[in-house]
Amino acid sequence: MRVLFVTAEAYPLAKTGGLADVSRALPIALARRGVDVRLLLPGYPRAYTRLEQPRIVAKLDPMLGIADATLVSGKFPGTELPVWLVDSPTLFRRGGGLYQDENGRDWPDNALRFAFLAHVGAKLAMGEIRIGWKPDIVHANDWHAGLLPLLLAQEKGPKPSSVFTTHNMAFQGNFPSSILSSIGIPESYFASGGIEFYRQVSFLKAGLSYADRVTTVSPTYAREILTPEFGCGMEGVLRSRADDFSGILNGIDDVLWDPATDSHLPQTYRASDISGKRVCKTALQREHGLMANPDAPLIGYVSRLTHQKMADTILTALPWIVEQQAQLVLVGEGDPVLEEAFTEARARYGGSVAVHVGYDEPLAHRLQAGCDILLAPARFEPCGLTQLYALRYGTLPIVRRTGGLADTVVDSTAESIANRAATGFVFEDVGTEGLIAATARALAFYREPLTWRRLQLHAMAQDFSWDASAAKYAFLYSKVSGVPHVEEAPVETASQEAVIQAAS
Ligand code: ADP
Ligand code: GLC
Repeated sequence: MRVLFVTAEAYPLAKTGGLADVSRALPIALARRGVDVRLLLPGYPRAYTRLEQPRIVAKLDPMLGIADATLVSGKFPGTELPVWLVDSPTLFRRGGGLYQDENGRDWPDNALRFAFLAHVGAKLAMGEIRIGWKPDIVHANDWHAGLLPLLLAQEKGPKPSSVFTTHNMAFQGNFPSSILSSIGIPESYFASGGIEFYRQVSFLKAGLSYADRVTTVSPTYAREILTPEFGCGMEGVLRSRADDFSGILNGIDDVLWDPATDSHLPQTYRASDISGKRVCKTALQREHGLMANPDAPLIGYVSRLTHQKMADTILTALPWIVEQQAQLVLVGEGDPVLEEAFTEARARYGGSVAVHVGYDEPLAHRLQAGCDILLAPARFEPCGLTQLYALRYGTLPIVRRTGGLADTVVDSTAESIANRAATGFVFEDVGTEGLIAATARALAFYREPLTWRRLQLHAMAQDFSWDASAAKYAFLYSKVSGVPHVEEAPVETASQEAVIQAAS
């Protein structure tokens, strides 16, 4: 089974969020199961320098007005996984971020940049770039690769099957219709049954509409996005694909995120002896100028600072948190207004609140290890990975019951604790009260060390490795392409019943 995995991010080549973690760990887990999986992503400067054994394998024919592109092959850092980077100085070799410039403005040519990625993916998939390999399946991720299933659908004759995964329905890649001629898609597709979305061109809609199978990253989010509340306007498109649509829960890279071996930690630890976690806590307090009090509950938050992640709610809850004699350490970047507000809060609550505005991968590890509690609330959450890392690090997560958060964290009640099922704290309301009430419950349990230790053990015993979910993807690939794969793990499609309920 040969799979071309197309993505805009893959850690450590390029990362802004969970897509990068998944685009690393899932292909590695698939390769472990005998799938011949290869990655295709844009040749951002950092990706280029981190790629192992890079070599130019093809000069790409001019396309969409881009004449400087080459295909560079290499190995995914630290693995044998083959990667191709689309290297184009015009499109990808620039400073700033993956999608935005230094000032946080979207690159004006994003439509062209990712349309080009999709066209290269289609040419690779159709064997039109001579590299001696052709996939049975193309797995396109998020709007950045959304045009790829459409390009394959256009092809006559034998072609690979396509799977499209939406990691977040809020990111749609919508552009003015005037770009249509520049992205190599015929006018005829600009229709409500095609890629037109409220008079714009939508890359996400292209992926959802034209892929042979569509997936998202948790079963609960799969049900939610069939409804107007979560579907971001695409619920109708998804409902029309209900028989080909399923939710497969993300896993985590349990080698990179393992407190027993994590090289970012001042001291490692494991479930049988978590004494090292106290060392991590003291070090984190010291590093961020927090009062060195081993008994003060230390709450962490590592996230994009956005409305989705309820960063605004955390800000409102902050005075209450400080009143409880708890400490908060925050690592994040995003909305400039929130960045500034948190920076001000640090000045006001120095000693109790630490704020690091920016992106810092090693710090994310130290935070997960050093904190007692992780705040991972969200207004919606396709899957969420930070709560899964927290569980593995014995840091009890506080989450809202939505999407993948609902699928992965079990609220602590007398019953769930007795059943050894409890792993964190779950609340329903989007308002500040819900978050505060859940945090108050967490803090009360924190003051009962024996119960807290039991909860930590339950959390650390959870298995969210990729094994089970990678098997589901392999089964899905096999089903959609007809190429046999030895392992079998059934994937439930969104049932007609769920669709009917969602529609009513
Ligand atoms: P999303 O992809 O929606 O942002 P996830 O929970 O799926 O949310 O994944 C977020 C990933 O990004 C995690 O690996 C998390 O540790 C990381 N992350 C988020 N913000 C930061 C930051 N400021 N510094 C370091 N890592 C971060
Ligand atoms: C998106 C989602 C997040 C998910 C990640 C990886 O960024 O917001 O919930 O965990 O993709 O699938």
